[in-house]
Amino acid sequence: MASLGSLWTGLVLLGVLGVLGVLQTAAQAQTSLQSDFQQDKFLGHWFSAGLASNSSWFREKKASMSMCSTVVTPREDGGLNLTSTFLRKDQCETRTMQLWPAETPGSYSYHSPRWGRTSLISVVEINYNEYALLDTKGIDHDFRMATLYSRTQTPRAELKEKFSAFCKAQGFTEDTIVFPPQTDKCLKGKE
Ligand SMILES: *[C@@H]1O[C@H](CO)[C@@H](O)[C@H](O)[C@H]1NC(C)=O
Ligand SMILES: *[C@@H]1O[C@H](CO)[C@@H](O)[C@H](O)[C@H]1NC(C)=O
Repeated sequence: MASLGSLWTGLVLLGVLGVLGVLQTAAQAQTSLQSDFQQDKFLGHWFSAGLASNSSWFREKKASMSMCSTVVTPREDGGLNLTSTFLRKDQCETRTMQLWPAETPGSYSYHSPRWGRTSLISVVEINYNEYALLDTKGIDHDFRMATLYSRTQTPRAELKEKFSAFCKAQGFTEDTIVFPPQTDKCLKGKE
């Protein structure tokens, strides 16, 4: 009887461990998101104070990047518009990305009509009044990007360090992390 009992215990334990293993793998595959994400507090004005990406496009443009401002507005269809203004060839350009809520709160899908590709943009950490850390992953293509959004054009040094640490934890190397400089051209009067 005793051996039958321990056999059962063993089997149950193996089963539990098996389930734990599956859960653990699922958790590792996904970056953990901000808990209790409040979309209404994510709205408004942000500055792209930090960026990191492995893409060759990013590596090429890195040196000439400047800070851009982004306004997050809700749409009636439940999605978000991310409207960014940035300096390009000496001109201020505005571009809107339309985001759709994904399964988890704080997670959005974005389809680029220009490239015909879909990405998942997730708010990994946010304190709403100062900063947000975002993770972008290609769903149907190989792409990763980390973004630091700041409510001001001059984020604290600690925030930059936090972003660097976040990027490294995501597997980005130092040389792929950029803190784009401010430009008074397109950001004027935005703060
Ligand atoms: C969202 O962006 C689209 C595309 O630029 C635009 O047509 C629409 O008016 C915007 N909606 C809001 C609420 O800003
Ligand atoms: C970026 O590229 C390096 C070198 O190929 C690789 O080790 C690293 O895992 C990549 N990071 C991400 C986040 O894709």
